[in-house]
Amino acid sequence: MRLVNVILAAGFGTRMKSDLPKVMHPLLGRPMVEWAVRMAETVGPELPVLVVGYGRELVEQHLDGRARFVHQPELLGTGHAVQQAAPLLRGQADVVLVSYADMPLLRSQTLRALADTFRAGQAAGEAPVLAMLTVTRDDPQGFGRIVRDARGEIQAIVEEADCTPEQRQIRELNPGIYCFDAEWLWANLDQIPLSAKGEYYLTDMVGVAVAQGKRVLTQEAPAEEVDGINTRVQLAQATAVLRRRILEAHMLNGVTVIDPATTYIEDGVEIGSDTVIWPGSHLHGQTRIGRHAVIGPYSQVFDCEIGDHCRVICSYIEGARLETHAEIGPFGRLRKGAHLGEGVHMGSFGEVKNSYLGPGVHMGHFSYIGDAQVGAHANIGAGTITCNYDGKVKSKTVIGEDAFVGSDTLLVAPVELGPGARTGAGSVVTRDVAPHTLVYGVPARPAVKQEAPSPSPAAGESAPPTA
Ligand code: UD1
Ligand code: MG
Repeated sequence: MRLVNVILAAGFGTRMKSDLPKVMHPLLGRPMVEWAVRMAETVGPELPVLVVGYGRELVEQHLDGRARFVHQPELLGTGHAVQQAAPLLRGQADVVLVSYADMPLLRSQTLRALADTFRAGQAAGEAPVLAMLTVTRDDPQGFGRIVRDARGEIQAIVEEADCTPEQRQIRELNPGIYCFDAEWLWANLDQIPLSAKGEYYLTDMVGVAVAQGKRVLTQEAPAEEVDGINTRVQLAQATAVLRRRILEAHMLNGVTVIDPATTYIEDGVEIGSDTVIWPGSHLHGQTRIGRHAVIGPYSQVFDCEIGDHCRVICSYIEGARLETHAEIGPFGRLRKGAHLGEGVHMGSFGEVKNSYLGPGVHMGHFSYIGDAQVGAHANIGAGTITCNYDGKVKSKTVIGEDAFVGSDTLLVAPVELGPGARTGAGSVVTRDVAPHTLVYGVPARPAVKQEAPSPSPAAGESAPPTA
């Protein structure tokens, strides 16, 4: 049985008061419409069909390859919206599951339960043409009411504006999610009458089925899943619910979240067990964190890969990779292409961009390393700067293994310090330095005599703890 999801996403979203189409507003890192598509993907393998209208270029671009698109040129109602999918789907699907792009709290198990109810009805020989979700809640505002007969069989959905005073009191409501027998749907969609508002209501398909003596099944949905988003207030409320769900899933997987109220983790972030997330931390995008790591307090992480036992304290890091036992902060910054090897220590106010720091590199305070390669166990003294940009081109700095860069050294790239090379405090290094050679001064020149390997008085305060 081929099931195809049809997701309605053509509406203006007027009440968002935004230049961005409503369904492109993000919740925890994913546009609203992407939540709907992801949910559809869990129900069946067929590419969902999105009915798009306002702002469709942006929607189509974002979901390219993950959905098929049909255009509703004029917003003539939900029935009219579904009709737009008929040319594409006629004969191509057995069951059509209709949902909305602005209902991101709906869980996939609820959608699957509806499809199961429909299939079970078919298997039992009831030949349902339609199964739909219903929801019971005290606040019925804005929802169509479910009208049943004395035997409890569904008769119709009545829109709030068309309700009699008695119907208004009904608390069984229509969330707007339906599973249709496709052939019946395409054959009968044109039976929908034009409403007083000048729209074709998909809800009228219930009345059409009942008039034909066909079976309509219902499936109760959890009340908190069917809140649609129309305003930015509702956007924030839905975000809070999704955020809670994500945090709870991590906690149940063995991650300690010290303060869920101030922790923001986007959908799709992966975190290993026994990692601790301290308050005020935000984890975004394609971020993966290993086990026994410590993040925060107050760290912001974007698209990073962080190994086991790493510590990221009060730092802002994006597009970076940290190997096991690396640590940064407080107040560190990693930019795109920063790669810290195993056990790297980066202390306060350091910045690294597009550079590899080999295992055990020690960079304690106030340094900028950009477009560089730093060998294992090198020591980067306080205030070291790679001068990587001359206003036209970016150039590379190479610092060899076990090199000792004195405080306040400026490395004017392109330049290379050989393994074990040393620079005096305040050196401006404009030429390559041979291995195991001490240079100092402005511009830096080799010391006349080879230095003994004991700490030099010119080396600044960043001597490794073992030296
Ligand atoms: C609809 C239902 C109502 C239900 C409610 C639940 C109808 C007539 N009414 O009302 O019974 O309780 O949802 O939220 O269906 N859309 C289009 N093209 C259109 C019109 C709408 O794509 O021409 C899309 C919208 O973008 C939105 C969805 O369909 O995602 C629902 O439309 P909306 O106008 O919000 O319907 P409601 O009045 O809320
Ligand atoms: Mg609505």
